[in-house]
Amino acid sequence: MSRVAIVTGGTRGIGRAICEQLQADGFIVVANYGGNDDAARHCEESSGIKCYKWDVGDHEATIAGCAKVEQEVGPIEVVVNNAGITRDGTLHKMSYDDWHDVMRVNLGGCFNMSKACFPGMRERKWGRIVNIGSINGQAGQYGQVNYAAAKSGIHGFTKALAQEGARANITVNAIAPGYIDTDMVAAVPDNVLEKIVAGIPVGRLGQANEIARGVSFLCSEEAGFVTGSTMSINGGQHMY
Ligand code: CAA
Repeated sequence: MSRVAIVTGGTRGIGRAICEQLQADGFIVVANYGGNDDAARHCEESSGIKCYKWDVGDHEATIAGCAKVEQEVGPIEVVVNNAGITRDGTLHKMSYDDWHDVMRVNLGGCFNMSKACFPGMRERKWGRIVNIGSINGQAGQYGQVNYAAAKSGIHGFTKALAQEGARANITVNAIAPGYIDTDMVAAVPDNVLEKIVAGIPVGRLGQANEIARGVSFLCSEEAGFVTGSTMSINGGQHMY
C-alpha cells in the first residue's frame, strides 16, 4: 500500500524535485504551495501531483489544509517541510516584518505542519518528517539574521521532535542544503553569488535533485534508525 507524502512549497525548485523523487519512489505525493498558481497548475498538469494552496505560516489554515488532504487522499505519513522564503538585508536595514515573515513561514511552518500530522503518525506508529534547513542556519550568512535564525531553529526543532517521535517509529531529520540552482539563489546579486560559488569546493551550485535524493533516503523504510540527524548537502562549502 502506498503511503501519502506531502511536500510544502512543492510546486517549484527543491520542493518540486522532492515531489518527483518521492513519486518515483512509490509514494502518493501531494504538494502544498503558498502563492504561485501558475506553477501549481503546471506541476499538476505535468506530473499528476495534486496541489493544495495554503500559507504554512498560518496555523489554522495548515490544520484545515492537512485535514482536507487526509479526507481527499489519505492519512499523511510523510511530511517534508520545505516551504521557505527569504527577506535578505543587513540588520540595520531589516524591518520587523522582514524578520517576522521569515520566522513565521520557515520555522512556524514546521511547527504548524507537525501539529497537524504528528498526532496521526503517533496513532499509526509510523511516520517520516524531513525538515529542510540550510547551510546558512549552520554557518550564518551576512544579510540573513532572519533566515539564519529560522533555519537554525529548524535544526533544534528537528532534534527535539525526533526524541518525542522515536518510540512511535516516527523519524524526524533535517537536510541542510548549500547553494542550489533555484529561483531563490538566482535572486542573490550576481557579484555576491560569484564570490559564494568561488567558496564551494566542488566549484558549482547544487542541483535540486541532489537534495531530493537525500530526502528520498530519509523517507525510506530502511532509514528507520536515522533520526534527529542533519544531512549536509553543500558541495563541501561548510564541513563540521
Ligand atoms: N562579509 C562581509 N562584508 C560583506 C559581505 C560579507 N559576506 N557581504 C557584503 N559585505 C559588505 C559589502 O562589501 C559592503 O561593504 P562596503 O560598503 O564597505 O563596500 C557592505 O557589506 C554592504 O553590502 P551591500 O552593498 O551588498 O549591502 P546591501 O544592503 O545592498 O545588500 C545583502 C546586502 C542583501 C545582504 C546582499 O549582500 C545579499 O543579497 N547577499 C546575499 C545573501 C545570501 O547569501 N542570501 C542567500 C539567499 S539563498 C538562500 O538563502 C538559500 C540557502 O538556504 C542557501
